[in-house]
Amino acid sequence: MGDTSAGYKFYRVSMVNEFPSGERLFLEIDGLPIVLFSIGEDFLATGDICTHDGGEIGEGELDGEEIICPRHGARFNIRTGKAMSLPAVTGIPIYPVRQVDGFIEIGIPT
Ligand code: FES
Repeated sequence: MGDTSAGYKFYRVSMVNEFPSGERLFLEIDGLPIVLFSIGEDFLATGDICTHDGGEIGEGELDGEEIICPRHGARFNIRTGKAMSLPAVTGIPIYPVRQVDGFIEIGIPT
Protein backbone atom coordinates (compact mmCIF):
# COMPACT_ATOMS: atom_id res chain seq x y z
CA MET A 1 0.00 0.00 0.00
CA GLY A 2 1.22 3.46 -0.80
CA ASP A 3 0.80 6.70 1.06
CA THR A 4 -2.13 8.79 -0.18
CA SER A 5 -1.87 12.55 -0.42
CA ALA A 6 -3.25 15.30 -2.66
CA GLY A 7 -4.99 12.96 -5.07
CA TYR A 8 -2.03 10.64 -5.48
CA LYS A 9 -0.99 7.41 -3.91
CA PHE A 10 2.80 7.27 -3.57
CA TYR A 11 4.72 4.04 -4.01
CA ARG A 12 8.32 3.45 -2.97
CA VAL A 13 10.21 2.08 -5.93
CA SER A 14 13.92 2.40 -5.18
CA MET A 15 16.50 3.82 -2.82
CA VAL A 16 17.96 7.11 -4.05
CA ASN A 17 21.53 5.90 -3.62
CA GLU A 18 20.88 2.75 -5.65
CA PHE A 19 19.63 4.64 -8.67
CA PRO A 20 22.45 6.63 -10.26
CA SER A 21 22.07 9.24 -12.98
CA GLY A 22 21.59 7.72 -16.42
CA GLU A 23 19.71 4.68 -15.14
CA ARG A 24 16.12 3.74 -15.95
CA LEU A 25 13.68 1.61 -14.05
CA PHE A 26 10.77 -0.14 -15.74
CA LEU A 27 7.78 -0.62 -13.46
CA GLU A 28 4.17 -1.55 -13.42
CA ILE A 29 2.12 0.15 -10.74
CA ASP A 30 -1.64 -0.34 -10.51
CA GLY A 31 -1.49 -1.89 -13.98
CA LEU A 32 0.22 1.19 -15.45
CA PRO A 33 3.50 0.73 -17.33
CA ILE A 34 5.90 3.39 -16.07
CA VAL A 35 9.50 4.35 -16.72
CA LEU A 36 11.50 6.14 -14.06
CA PHE A 37 14.51 8.11 -15.32
CA SER A 38 17.42 9.32 -13.24
CA ILE A 39 18.83 12.41 -14.92
CA GLY A 40 21.40 14.50 -13.09
CA GLU A 41 19.80 15.34 -9.76
CA ASP A 42 16.29 14.68 -11.03
CA PHE A 43 14.01 11.68 -11.08
CA LEU A 44 11.29 11.79 -13.73
CA ALA A 45 8.51 9.28 -14.29
CA THR A 46 6.43 8.84 -17.44
CA GLY A 47 4.08 6.32 -18.93
CA ASP A 48 5.75 3.70 -21.11
CA ILE A 49 3.29 3.67 -24.01
CA CYS A 50 3.74 5.82 -27.08
CA THR A 51 0.59 7.73 -28.01
CA HIS A 52 1.27 7.22 -31.71
CA ASP A 53 0.88 3.47 -31.98
CA GLY A 54 1.42 1.94 -28.58
CA GLY A 55 5.20 1.38 -28.77
CA GLU A 56 7.21 1.04 -25.58
CA ILE A 57 9.00 4.35 -25.45
CA GLY A 58 11.07 3.67 -22.35
CA GLU A 59 13.77 1.85 -24.30
CA GLY A 60 14.18 4.82 -26.61
CA GLU A 61 17.23 7.02 -26.90
CA LEU A 62 17.31 10.11 -24.71
CA ASP A 63 18.28 13.46 -26.18
CA GLY A 64 18.52 15.78 -23.19
CA GLU A 65 15.04 15.58 -21.69
CA GLU A 66 13.42 14.22 -24.85
CA ILE A 67 12.88 10.53 -25.39
CA ILE A 68 12.71 9.21 -28.93
CA CYS A 69 10.24 6.41 -29.57
CA PRO A 70 12.15 3.45 -31.02
CA ARG A 71 9.31 2.58 -33.39
CA HIS A 72 8.75 5.66 -35.54
CA GLY A 73 10.81 8.37 -33.92
CA ALA A 74 8.25 10.54 -32.15
CA ARG A 75 9.78 12.66 -29.39
CA PHE A 76 8.34 13.40 -25.97
CA ASN A 77 9.58 15.71 -23.25
CA ILE A 78 9.88 13.47 -20.19
CA ARG A 79 9.49 16.39 -17.74
CA THR A 80 6.23 17.70 -19.20
CA GLY A 81 4.99 14.66 -21.13
CA LYS A 82 4.40 16.87 -24.15
CA ALA A 83 4.65 15.41 -27.67
CA MET A 84 7.49 17.31 -29.35
CA SER A 85 7.42 15.84 -32.85
CA LEU A 86 5.34 13.81 -35.25
CA PRO A 87 4.09 11.20 -35.70
CA ALA A 88 2.80 11.65 -32.13
CA VAL A 89 0.49 14.57 -31.42
CA THR A 90 -0.74 13.62 -27.94
CA GLY A 91 1.48 13.72 -24.89
CA ILE A 92 2.31 10.86 -22.54
CA PRO A 93 1.36 10.75 -18.86
CA ILE A 94 3.85 12.00 -16.32
CA TYR A 95 3.83 11.12 -12.63
CA PRO A 96 5.10 13.08 -9.64
CA VAL A 97 8.25 11.77 -8.02
CA ARG A 98 9.39 12.61 -4.50
CA GLN A 99 12.21 11.61 -2.19
CA VAL A 100 11.34 10.47 1.32
CA ASP A 101 13.87 9.12 3.84
CA GLY A 102 16.30 8.16 1.07
CA PHE A 103 13.65 6.45 -1.01
CA ILE A 104 12.19 7.44 -4.37
CA GLU A 105 8.41 7.44 -4.48
CA ILE A 106 6.13 7.72 -7.51
CA GLY A 107 2.63 9.17 -7.25
CA ILE A 108 -0.24 7.49 -9.07
CA PRO A 109 -3.53 9.41 -9.37
CA THR A 110 -6.21 7.96 -7.11
S1 FES B 1 4.70 3.98 -31.85
FE1 FES B 1 5.94 5.61 -31.15
S2 FES B 1 6.28 6.84 -32.90
FE2 FES B 1 4.99 5.24 -33.59
